[in-house]
Amino acid sequence: MRGTKKSTSPGQHDFVVVANRLPVDRVTGADGTPQWRRSPGGLVTALAPTMQSSGGAWVGWHGGVDEPLDEFDEGGIHQVPVPLSASELRLYYEGFSNATLWPLYHDVIVPPEFHRTWWVAYREVNARFARAAAATAAHGATVWVHDYQLQLVPRMLRDARPDLRIGFFNHIPFPPAELFAQLPWRARILEGLLGADLIGFQRASDTANFLTSVRRFLGVTARKGGVQVPGTSRVSRAETHPISIDAAHIAALAQDPDVRARAVQIRVEMGDPETVLLGVDRLDYTKGIRHRLKAYAELLDDGVVQVGQTGLIQIASPSREKVDSYQQLREEVEGTVGRINGEYDSFAATAVRYLHHSYPVEEMVALYLAADVMLVTPLRDGMNLVAKEYVMARGADGGGRLVLSEFAGAADQLRQAIIVSPHDIDGLKAAIMSGIEMAPPEAKRRMSSMRRTVESHDVNRWSREFLDSLMGNAPGTTEESSA
Ligand code: G6P
Repeated sequence: MRGTKKSTSPGQHDFVVVANRLPVDRVTGADGTPQWRRSPGGLVTALAPTMQSSGGAWVGWHGGVDEPLDEFDEGGIHQVPVPLSASELRLYYEGFSNATLWPLYHDVIVPPEFHRTWWVAYREVNARFARAAAATAAHGATVWVHDYQLQLVPRMLRDARPDLRIGFFNHIPFPPAELFAQLPWRARILEGLLGADLIGFQRASDTANFLTSVRRFLGVTARKGGVQVPGTSRVSRAETHPISIDAAHIAALAQDPDVRARAVQIRVEMGDPETVLLGVDRLDYTKGIRHRLKAYAELLDDGVVQVGQTGLIQIASPSREKVDSYQQLREEVEGTVGRINGEYDSFAATAVRYLHHSYPVEEMVALYLAADVMLVTPLRDGMNLVAKEYVMARGADGGGRLVLSEFAGAADQLRQAIIVSPHDIDGLKAAIMSGIEMAPPEAKRRMSSMRRTVESHDVNRWSREFLDSLMGNAPGTTEESSA
């Protein structure tokens, strides 16, 4: 594996990020040898400057199975790969993370499965991540743990290394106590999280849900300003810190002549319809793809939109393909797309251009520029960064309309979108039509206002505010436990 060999020894890093995945992907170089390339995505972009200036390290799974790897440096970040065995991949990743916690935390859209063997593997893998972080962090270092796959790490790390300052950020929703109650290991998860000095959530409702669960399932008083951690003199704080995107990068790509030319070409390749609708999602049941297709098919049935005049592009990037509910979803979505196209396509034009692929960010921005109406209609989503990217791509030209689910975290900030409940199919149809028909001056006004919001609340600000609060510099929004 290429990559500069260790430049620093473990235990030397003042800033350590711990996440399920490393921020690098393995690619094959021009000479045929495997190499690492920085993954696309805001998190690593936001943290890279801090990591580079503070000699930071990132602890995460490298995506391989039964493949222990040495630490290496890439992109100015010290990479600490955590290995997973084939059975851990099944039990910890596909099982407890993505067939227990993921559905439970997303409103039980599919039923979560509870298996003790999955829980045991989750605990063991979390312990491995915690050991790797403990061995990497310098004395008094700051460690930032990310997301639902690693909720036990803060407490495990605290026990091993009381000298550390520990933050945790949950990228997905935190469920209402009535749903969280189903989890047989609910108290262990809460204790795990309370190992952190600061626990960050996307929406105020997530923070409130967490504090309610702490009170209900640990019997602890959670006051404004924090939770008195049982059996210790420590206070752990819960705050709302909505994540964002690398706004300047998306805005710059939207001005790039090659990207703009590609956007024009996409419309031509679609048969030059008057209106291009766009959905961009991981192929996940939380994203509301089935509801969106149903609404669109009904608009075609009703004769309100016609193939040739209107076309829907649905990008569904492959995700968690070994998990049953994802396989079932793929069959359903592809069956529905086939039925819609079979019924409405002509030789010249298609109703739904469905693509089961991932694309680089340049192509994504070209798609945003090509789309008149962006459909972000998840049934539940921690934030949804596609909505923010679309706004940044279109804020300058003032074109485009955003239809946004009230169940996406982004709806708390993008108030000028056409806000909709994806469960209300008539409402969804009406929202799509109001996107198609919205007069350009109003669309422009709304898009500019949303652009200003995203521009001034980008991912750099998000990480700065979280870390400032963790270091005790600036309190964020602390929720009242009695909410
Ligand atoms: C969500 C989660 C991330 C996860 C990503 C992709 O955004 O919050 O933690 O990395 O989905 O899912 P995957 O299972 O492929 O890592």
